[in-house]
Amino acid sequence: MRPVFLADEGATRALAVRLARTAPERAVVYLHGDLGAGKSTLARAWLRELGVTGTVRSPTYTLLERYPLPRGGEALHLDLYRIGDAGELEFLALDDALDALWLVEWPDRGAAGLPPADLHVRLAMDGDGRGATLDGGSGAGEAWLRRLREVDELHRISEPNP
Ligand SMILES: Nc1ncnc2c1ncn2[C@@H]1O[C@H](COP(=O)(O)OP(=O)(O)OP(=O)(O)O)[C@@H](O)[C@H]1O
Ligand SMILES: [Mg+2]
Repeated sequence: MRPVFLADEGATRALAVRLARTAPERAVVYLHGDLGAGKSTLARAWLRELGVTGTVRSPTYTLLERYPLPRGGEALHLDLYRIGDAGELEFLALDDALDALWLVEWPDRGAAGLPPADLHVRLAMDGDGRGATLDGGSGAGEAWLRRLREVDELHRISEPNP
């Protein structure tokens, strides 16, 4: 799919809200992009939209933060930038979390220990803003992207705020 232009941080948050509202309950999302591309901004807004209140801590050093969700189930926020080797993921005891929503920053660093992605979100610098490209990684992810396209939700993000 062609990139969606995210002019400012608010647009990144708006994309997160649309993704949160359309996501299947169980989904693995890989958030790709360089340092400062907006991965944590997207993850934090997504968690907020799902009803997470209080502090959303950065998992930079802990690798993982888990959040029970008001609707039931849980969300996992991972940041694997500082992971030593993929084996460290095993120590996080994630086998019981396969039904959760996974938001994973720097997934390539822990790839071998991660469940496969349903959706890839690729964020990149684009002038003062960012570009976001969404790609399905599974049948469920493709269906999710079709739902998003049907409602043409994404293109409205690129328009000026009303
Ligand atoms: N669409 C956007 N346009 C301009 N700035 C943005 C946009 N989205 C997020 N930002 C800003 O980019 C900065 C970095 O964002 P963020 O911390 O989310 O990046 P990150 O990808 O998680 O970085 P890291 O890899 O270091 O964890 C923040 O100051 C945020 O406000
Ligand atoms: Mg981050």
